[in-house]
Amino acid sequence: MRDVKPLFLLLLLHRVTNGQDNGKWSSTTSTEISTVVGCKVEIEWVNAGPVDEFTIYKKQEHILSFHSGVSDNLIGNERLMINQQKRRNGELITVTINDVEIGDSGIYTCKLLPSNHSKNVTLTVTDLKWKTGKEIKAVNPWTPVQLSWEYKDSSGTAMVTAVRRKPGNSDWAEILARWEKGSVVQVHDLLRSRLEVDNFMTTAAGNKRTSIVLKDVTREDLSYQYRLLLEFGKCQKYSEPIDLIPEQCEAAPECSMTVRNVLIILVVLLLLAVISLIIFSYILRRRFIDDAANTERNRYASNRDIALSSRQVTPLVPEPLLDSENGNSASTSTRNGTIGENGKDESKPYKMEW
Ligand SMILES: *[C@@H]1O[C@H](CO)[C@@H](O)[C@H](O)[C@H]1NC(C)=O
Ligand SMILES: *[C@@H]1O[C@H](CO)[C@@H](O)[C@H](O)[C@H]1NC(C)=O
Repeated sequence: MRDVKPLFLLLLLHRVTNGQDNGKWSSTTSTEISTVVGCKVEIEWVNAGPVDEFTIYKKQEHILSFHSGVSDNLIGNERLMINQQKRRNGELITVTINDVEIGDSGIYTCKLLPSNHSKNVTLTVTDLKWKTGKEIKAVNPWTPVQLSWEYKDSSGTAMVTAVRRKPGNSDWAEILARWEKGSVVQVHDLLRSRLEVDNFMTTAAGNKRTSIVLKDVTREDLSYQYRLLLEFGKCQKYSEPIDLIPEQCEAAPECSMTVRNVLIILVVLLLLAVISLIIFSYILRRRFIDDAANTERNRYASNRDIALSSRQVTPLVPEPLLDSENGNSASTSTRNGTIGENGKDESKPYKMEW
């Protein structure tokens, strides 16, 4: 029992020394924190000296107390947690707020006791609103697809990444592209040749908008879900997924090839149709010209006929019928010969029998 008293004195001395050291706030403590609604946020203070007792204020209101490892939540807010840890560079005081709300915004002050040294940290909570939602895009294999996202984030502090995963995988580990302050800083190595990544643009309504184009979509690409990931510190916010499905067919294994084959067959059929149309129209035209020439010749012949003989004979009536009607084939042949001779005489008057 005699050993206890010196130990107690030593502890007391230690406590007194604390009070003198605990005014040195570490410069690593950030004084401005931004986050979005629904995130978990950690407000941190780092002090050089050992800390045993402190109080936390929000907008000057006393909300939390901490004394010798025991915390007291003065406003009964279950989303608030306080923690104290030893670190290499001193004592780390952490106030954790789960599922933050707009109303959590404000100045948080940590005041050490008994020195009354304090430090402020400003928390800004804004609302993140996705303007694009869940989407199922029908895509033809071997064609490009554009994936677009739009959201409203007043904090403007997010790290932005486009990611994809196969349904069922818990990880969104495959990074397609990454943006910093609206500019593209990273593109997937293997997909680089098939990816077109835009910088961010701000719409008239103040929304942030970006898109990526995946060219020559493969069957493999169609089995992924695509999302945009916004990171506010440790808080991750994912957009709703975009699912790609093959257009005009079931998600059968050979679907993409089938579509390609069907396209090739269609093109070949179209070509054949065009070629046969050209040939057909050529034949038709030739036949029409021949017919027209024949008709012209017939009309010419019949006109001659009518002119030479006073008989009313329609040119369509065949010669033999005409002959039998007359009962005189010799006269007909003579007449025909006469026509021929006359025709020769008319067209080429100088080319006589001489
Ligand atoms: C700290 O503040 C309290 C009350 O505001 C006061 O009673 C106390 O003396 C102060 N301590 C120091 C070391 O200034
Ligand atoms: C913390 O913020 C409050 C309110 O704005 C101000 O009165 C106080 O002086 C600040 N304290 C420090 C250490 O900056």
